[in-house]
Amino acid sequence: MNKMEKESSIERVRAVTKNFFIHFQSPKIHVYSLQPSFTYGLGIINLSLFIILLLSGLLLMVYYRPSVANAYNSILDINNVVTGGRYLRNIHRWAAHGLVFFSIIHMSRIFYTASYTRGRSMTWNIGICLLFVTLFSSFSGYLLPWDQLGFWAVTIASNIVSSTRELTDALLITAYFDPGLIIKKLLLGGTDVEQNALTRFYLLHIIFLPLIFILLTGWHFWRIRKSGGLNLPDKVDDLVMALDPAKKEGSKLIKNEYQLFSWPVALWAELSIFLSVLAILSIFAFMIDAPLKEIANPAIPENPAKAPWYFLGVQELVSYSSFGGGILVPLLITIALFSFPYIDKEEKNIGIWFSGTRGLRVTLYSGLFASGIIFILSSVLVGLGWIRDWFPSVPSELLIILNPGIITAIFFVLYSLIIAKRTNSIRLGAIALYSCILTGFALFTAIGIWFRGPDWEFIIWPFF
Ligand code: HEM
Repeated sequence: MNKMEKESSIERVRAVTKNFFIHFQSPKIHVYSLQPSFTYGLGIINLSLFIILLLSGLLLMVYYRPSVANAYNSILDINNVVTGGRYLRNIHRWAAHGLVFFSIIHMSRIFYTASYTRGRSMTWNIGICLLFVTLFSSFSGYLLPWDQLGFWAVTIASNIVSSTRELTDALLITAYFDPGLIIKKLLLGGTDVEQNALTRFYLLHIIFLPLIFILLTGWHFWRIRKSGGLNLPDKVDDLVMALDPAKKEGSKLIKNEYQLFSWPVALWAELSIFLSVLAILSIFAFMIDAPLKEIANPAIPENPAKAPWYFLGVQELVSYSSFGGGILVPLLITIALFSFPYIDKEEKNIGIWFSGTRGLRVTLYSGLFASGIIFILSSVLVGLGWIRDWFPSVPSELLIILNPGIITAIFFVLYSLIIAKRTNSIRLGAIALYSCILTGFALFTAIGIWFRGPDWEFIIWPFF
């Protein structure tokens, strides 16, 4: 390296380390990390969505008034009077949905490339917390327009929170210990969705949750840097050479060559992702309006009252058993998610999609298996009813366990254990479980969106 090259390198390192805003980036980055088919830019897409949410949210705050008397009208003003207000509101809403969606997709990319391994368990755990904060942030915003949609969605969710009562009732301890009611009161500032609830949701939405999100994101990025960047495959140089056969000489030189300075290459890539996200969201915001129903009316329930799409799967499970579906299954999924980095210690195939073709096969079979189980159980439910229809006097405690949600979960766990044993690989067992959970999430959400009508009855069912 001659003197001029050396100075230019130092400049590029300084460009990153001296700038507060781009310091989250390490000064050097492996060229494979920039390979689009490795990350699909998903982490940066999430960051971009959050920045857009923050900026549009700050502007919306100027006009929004968080009181039962004024909230709805201030949204009407934003939509119809404020210059650019409708665009701001729309982009804020679509970015919020986008962040939930892309967090799940990013989590799946991390999972299927086993990127939570080699000391990255904390990065993964922070990611799960980010997912939960995202869900809760998006949900807390739902109430703010104070329309029928948000009002009844939040009413349902607060009932789900208090569904621990099904268990405490069965144990005859509700009079002494009712955790669901405590959480519900904490959340709503009472037992009903009123001004206290609006104030609490507003504060959560504009201060506490964004602050937690920012802190967790900073920690997430710091952990990624501490781990030396992304979790690359073992034979990464061979993979890069396969991409660019012209570089097949002198592996030492190649190793150096494959470390790029972040400034400016990676930062341009990130900026272009941000601008693409902004452009696509803007098209959405110009073409599709964020929903706004009539002003909230506690006397006229929406029928069906549906939660936002990302909680519709839970709402479907709650229709089988409120404790089983609202608390137990989500808790089991959370435990499974947090435990993946601790049970999968395999060193092979890290950074490789699906850990290779065997993993891809397991993913596809698991998706089919999960779809089959859900299809059979919902056919039984719709065609033949469930235990209470067959044996009306059955004790309700039994239904906390013997309901389609819990039975589906038991099938998923057994199936994954069988896969782990037959393939002699914990990784493949984990892939089976994650794929079943993902398929279950997608299918129960789809059932909630398209197949449930008034009184939560199935509305389209071609076979019966
Ligand atoms: C919702 C906000 C999130 C943001 C802004 C975010 C951002 C990022 C970025 C920029 C990266 C590096 C580039 C990439 O891999 O795409 C990354 C990596 C990572 N993310 Fe996230 N992420 C978020 C959520 C999540 C979630 C939900 C999980 C999983 C539960 C997760 C787990 C990880 C892990 C383990 C890595 C390190 C991957 C490696 O070292 O190869 N993140 N994240």
